[in-house]
Amino acid sequence: MRKERTIYSCTTCGHKEPRWVGQCRECANWNTFLESAAEDREPPRFNFQRKEVAKALPLKDLVISESPRIKTNLSEFDRLLGGGIVKGSFTLVGGDPGIGKSTLLLQAASAAAKQGVVVLYISAEESLEQTFLRAQRLGVTGNDNLLVLSETNFSAIKKNIEEIDPDIVIVDSIQIIYKNDIPSAPGSFVQVREVATEFMHLAKGRGISIFLIGHVTKTGEIAGPKMLEHLVDTVLYFEGEKQQNFRLLRVVKNRFGSTDEVAVFQMTGGGLVEVCNPSQFFLEERTKESTGSVIVATLEGSRTFLVEVQALVTDTVFATPSRRASGIDQNRLALLLAVLEKRVGYPLHSRDVFVSLAGGIRIAECAIDLGVILAIISSYSNRIIPSNVVAIGEVGLSGEIRGIPRIEGRLKEAIHLGFKKFFIPKRNSEAIMKEFSSKIQIIPLEVVEEAIDALFV
Ligand code: TYD
Ligand code: MG
Repeated sequence: MRKERTIYSCTTCGHKEPRWVGQCRECANWNTFLESAAEDREPPRFNFQRKEVAKALPLKDLVISESPRIKTNLSEFDRLLGGGIVKGSFTLVGGDPGIGKSTLLLQAASAAAKQGVVVLYISAEESLEQTFLRAQRLGVTGNDNLLVLSETNFSAIKKNIEEIDPDIVIVDSIQIIYKNDIPSAPGSFVQVREVATEFMHLAKGRGISIFLIGHVTKTGEIAGPKMLEHLVDTVLYFEGEKQQNFRLLRVVKNRFGSTDEVAVFQMTGGGLVEVCNPSQFFLEERTKESTGSVIVATLEGSRTFLVEVQALVTDTVFATPSRRASGIDQNRLALLLAVLEKRVGYPLHSRDVFVSLAGGIRIAECAIDLGVILAIISSYSNRIIPSNVVAIGEVGLSGEIRGIPRIEGRLKEAIHLGFKKFFIPKRNSEAIMKEFSSKIQIIPLEVVEEAIDALFV
């Protein structure tokens, strides 16, 4: 057996060196070398062996059978996966520590086990007692099909998987599991990549659905889930402010369903609960008839959320006014304030402006621009925007209102919740006037001033 050695390769051009160097000889980039596994190690790195050699086939002759899916009783989770857990699928669930990844997957595991599916939960980060206490808190009693293993060594895990032959394996988390034959520490780039590749072979070779939990790391000493995205079939990210009790689960990649979908969950004392009507949830605490508040309709995947934009404009006491945004991009706020100042003539340079999305949600979509502008003017002029108004539209640098995608879905959700008056881009209005004008009042807009005149003059 040849001696094991570590090599270093350039992350930009792939050039290899026997030891770490600061600058790459090939592409001349600095600091691009990372430790990588030795190539000539024996026996082969991946013990997985194919039964037969793959053969090329004409595309037209391929027969695709619909993959069987395992449903959990978290219907929103199933929807994100494209209709349940696909047999042999390889999924990554990423998110900040403490956001609720272990909770979600333990709930899903227990639901699957109840249907006779054998689930192995590898609780590498926590002891069996901690997992048991979490299960108790979630009211998960489990049955013979839900097995828990507290182990961090990959060979021991693999042995268990081969013996138990489960249908679903949950790896909590990938960053703490290590392979003996790799010298670097658990959580390092090489360990995470190699262990994940081994799990991929287990998933594909044995038809086991494997979920990897990965912590998002800001500092980078531990390899984050980003580097595994290309390896897996599905990538889910769990987002949310820990102080707020709602969580967004977002699909960013899915080989078995659509991407860009989101599901809303609420973290309660007894685990995660699905929020089936997110708009109602976000508008729950709204105080009607207050200045600086307006409702916008935003899209996340195929879902529409109605969210309250709040603004507060006050006289500044310092030479430089303060502008703070929470939930929307700070630069976008600066741009909208510049449009208001220059194109509409509001003297905001001597005011502090604070804008926030109620409930702690974050929105990157420009369709909320008009809402942000109207909330600011409402607070500036101390005039209330009627509580049945919804404002949708992107605002351009000349103060023009630009069209937005999928207006019908947004209108339908808002009508469903009782909103009556809609400020929308003129460009979108023609297509929907016929269908909606009998039910609601539509105010088509070309420039920002038209909305301001209609509401405040
Ligand atoms: P956890 O699933 O451990 O997060 P992660 O695996 O992403 O690190 O849960 C994180 C937090 O959720 C923890 O601070 C406690 C809280 N929590 C609840 O509020 N209710 C519950 O039922 C459970 C299990 C946890
Ligand atoms: Mg955890």
